[in-house]
Amino acid sequence: MSIFLSNPTLLRNGFRSLMFLTPSVSISYSTCTSVLSSDDSRRKKWRQPVVSALELGGVKIAKEDVVREDPTNNVPDSIFSKLGMQLHRRPTHPLGILKNAIFDYFDTNYPNKFDKFDDLCPIVSAKENFDDVLVPADHVSRSYNDTYYVDSETVLRCHTSAHQADLLRKGHTHFLVIGDVYRRDSIDATHYPVFHQMEGVRVFCPDDWEASGMDATSYAAGDLKTCLEGLASHLFGAVEMRWVDTYFPFTNPSFELEIYFQDKWLEVLGCGVTEQEILKRSGKTNNVAWAFGLGLERLAMVLFDIPDIRLFWSSDERFTSQFLKGELGTKFKPYSKFPPCFKDMSFWLSDSFTENNLCEIVRGVAGDLVEEVRLIDNFTNKKGMTSHCYRIAYRSMERSLTDDEINELQWNVRDQVQSKLSVVLR
Ligand code: DAH
Repeated sequence: MSIFLSNPTLLRNGFRSLMFLTPSVSISYSTCTSVLSSDDSRRKKWRQPVVSALELGGVKIAKEDVVREDPTNNVPDSIFSKLGMQLHRRPTHPLGILKNAIFDYFDTNYPNKFDKFDDLCPIVSAKENFDDVLVPADHVSRSYNDTYYVDSETVLRCHTSAHQADLLRKGHTHFLVIGDVYRRDSIDATHYPVFHQMEGVRVFCPDDWEASGMDATSYAAGDLKTCLEGLASHLFGAVEMRWVDTYFPFTNPSFELEIYFQDKWLEVLGCGVTEQEILKRSGKTNNVAWAFGLGLERLAMVLFDIPDIRLFWSSDERFTSQFLKGELGTKFKPYSKFPPCFKDMSFWLSDSFTENNLCEIVRGVAGDLVEEVRLIDNFTNKKGMTSHCYRIAYRSMERSLTDDEINELQWNVRDQVQSKLSVVLR
């Protein structure tokens, strides 16, 4: 189960996806103003993003606008540094190659039909991210534990579905949105707080389904399945596929597509027939639509044999030089595997403890040198105090780490865990 906004009872199992230096990246100032429309002072503030085309090849938003010491903000420096990286816009990066392969599929099968957006600002309103796509008020994804809030009304989008309603309102009827999405989460080889998603939406008119003799919903669901099976074959070749019923707040009925690939059933995407309420609010009362969302890293990891999600962020030439524009078939060749180093840490929990907060601290200290944070022991004593022991795996993708270096990281983690999480180290 990988899709973040699926059935809440199934959350958190397995891979979650459903989530260079390009010369002319454009998180443009204008794409970001939509977030700010309700409040003039906020808007004014956002009018001063710092353009730093030299440094990152992109536009930078002033750090103090995104990372602030105030309780409504939980964006750390490490996340700020990812904004504007736009890996998906590099044509020789695995994510850019995959994006272009998906675009090719739509261009070939629906010439000039789908509008494509790959540079929409990842800072959106909580309304766009949640309310506009009917995410329930008490859904876990709205919590500060799961989502990065810039302030109480503004978030780093946690899915590309955040753009659906706005684009529909603007009159688009066929569109693809691809972008970086942000989620607070645990740490392992398939989880990273920033990843990439693609969203697709297609709107139909009464003429479309009336001619078929089918009801509107069955017509849209049929078209959706044909389209996405075609996409899966385009990416993975002749594979066995199956449809699984599921739940999303924004679609009904909702499905997941799975393919049998490398001896396993692999979830490829989530999709469904758009909730009528979303169309109605965008002024489309006589229409029906479908939508899908897929996580690019998840697919790129199997297509390119990439073993660890951190590699997508590597600027090591031994990684970046392995991929070629337009070549989906390349298999990544590991240049060397450096040994991991494990450090255990036990503490008595406080009431407010969450694993996501712990992981944020570890990433803040160790960055991409942390490979995994895993709970290895958990018990409650007679007094009702609960102890957790976490094993942190440190490993660089690029070099051997020294003992001194790791010890320093670990001491730093211990210090911060104690001071920021109010736990008692054992
Ligand atoms: N937004 C969902 C997620 O992040 C993915 C998704 C599922 C998008 C179904 C859709 C959809 O448009 O119809 O988990």
